[in-house]
Amino acid sequence: MDICTIGTGYVGLVTGTCFAEMGHNVWCVDIDEEKIKKLCNGVIPIYEPGLEEMVKRNKEEGRLRFTTSLSEAMENSLFLFIAVGTPPKEDGSADLTHVIGVAREIGKILIIIK
Ligand SMILES: NC(=O)c1ccc[n+]([C@@H]2O[C@H](COP(=O)([O-])OP(=O)(O)OC[C@H]3O[C@@H](n4cnc5c(N)ncnc54)[C@H](O)[C@@H]3O)[C@@H](O)[C@H]2O)c1
Repeated sequence: MDICTIGTGYVGLVTGTCFAEMGHNVWCVDIDEEKIKKLCNGVIPIYEPGLEEMVKRNKEEGRLRFTTSLSEAMENSLFLFIAVGTPPKEDGSADLTHVIGVAREIGKILIIIK
């Protein structure tokens, strides 16, 4: 299956890598160009036991890709998982600004792809 995770933080990177480990083709997207550049070069920005080896193996075997281009990832994906940050607001509720921003981008790209 072709899958895209949007946001390559703790949740998106680990989820995407585990999907790839299960045999799926995964595109990991982030707006942070530096982070994507590092991931493309095999530098993992977070520590999780076994993650580095898993990223390396799946990248080398062609199941795991990193990009800043949401449209490129969407053109090659059937399922999209939004895993961007939801920092707490002053009242303790989750700030969904980034999630809604990504949803809007997805909507725009869907119209173009169609
Ligand atoms: N980290 C945890 O242990 C954990 C546990 C349960 C739930 N969650 C939830 O999962 C979600 C993600 O958390 P996280 O810890 O992975 O966040 P994170 O801050 O580690 O990573 C978020 C990533 O999203 C990227 N991003 C922001 N806007 C973007 C955009 N428009 N397009 C593409 N990428 C974008 C950021 O550059 C960053 O790399 C949050 O809702 C969080 O509450 C996290």
